[in-house]
Amino acid sequence: MPHIKIDGHLIETSPGKTIIQAAYDSGMQIPHFCWHPELTVAGNCRMCLVEVGMPKRNQQGEIEKDESGNDVISFFPKLQVACATPISEGMVVRALSEKAVEAQEAVMEFLLINHPLDCPICDEAGECKLQEYAFKHSKGESRFDEQKNHAKKRQVWGPNVMFDGERCISCSRCIRFTKEMEQFWIIHIL
Ligand code: FES
Repeated sequence: MPHIKIDGHLIETSPGKTIIQAAYDSGMQIPHFCWHPELTVAGNCRMCLVEVGMPKRNQQGEIEKDESGNDVISFFPKLQVACATPISEGMVVRALSEKAVEAQEAVMEFLLINHPLDCPICDEAGECKLQEYAFKHSKGESRFDEQKNHAKKRQVWGPNVMFDGERCISCSRCIRFTKEMEQFWIIHIL
């Protein structure tokens, strides 16, 4: 079974898992919007950006060690999305590093650029992950001083669905849910 380290915690996981799945199975949370354990991966919200590194190998293919005998870790220059990055033995993940947290805060700032921020009258009535993340994973300020883009509101898409274009962050979870649940029902129930 592969072993990976997430923010200093050693985790034994199973082959084929992604970083976010391995973290989730071990009771750790990496911030995310578009990922759901029961749905396919879209990787489009970018909220789960983390630093990822692998043990450095010498020309003989052996893992290099530092003076204390620990593996030397070589981190990818760019952050990776935890929901679409498969784990491999010896991987080291930093979800709480300064670089990762800064990226998560930048994503929140971006997602809220056109958001109406009318929380007191929103239908979600405080049950809102975006609001929760705005407290936990954002600087609480925006550098955007242009006019907000106004999208269509209250579009009735069916007996149980009302779409609000200003509140949608285009994570595609609702689309994948309806598509994939429909397929599941056709294959397994009908
Ligand atoms: S949760 Fe990974 S990109 Fe959305």
